[in-house]
Amino acid sequence: MNHAVLFVCLGNICRSPLAEGVFRTLVEEAGQTGRFTVESAGTGAWHIGNPPDPRSIDVAARHGLDISAQRARQVCTEDFHRFDTIVAMDRDNLETLKFRTAGGSARIRLLLNAPERDVPDPYYGGPDGFDHVLRLVRAGCVDLLDSLTGAGQPRSGAPQGS
Ligand code: 4NP
Repeated sequence: MNHAVLFVCLGNICRSPLAEGVFRTLVEEAGQTGRFTVESAGTGAWHIGNPPDPRSIDVAARHGLDISAQRARQVCTEDFHRFDTIVAMDRDNLETLKFRTAGGSARIRLLLNAPERDVPDPYYGGPDGFDHVLRLVRAGCVDLLDSLTGAGQPRSGAPQGS
């Protein structure tokens, strides 16, 4: 079975392209290619068709990821039907997605749970912000892949909660 995951931020040039690249690489490393469809999009329309921000391309490259071929697009109505899981980078975009969902079947969630909940928008800050984003995105994507593949869950034994 294929599980389709869409990562969403505001512009689709800083955070969600990194999440797309990191998650796709984790999927490959886990030998799960073909079991996941991975894309990213933005709730805003300003950067449609543009490559990721050079600072995102740079921090990704320093961690061995090439995200330069990605192109920004905006979330559309079909996404709420085509994707199983839509992952928002922060609570603002989570709210926007919930507002636009229009009866789709996608599960909409945040990338992070705790201690941080938001991957902060690095667009108007310095390059350090992009390192911080990559660290948060990587931690969130590891947990997300675990949760979607059932890794870390007991395979057998007593029912949970008993
Ligand atoms: P992103 O960052 O949502 O992580 O892609 C931003 C990129 C562009 C803008 C805002 C946030 N902008 O206002 O153009």
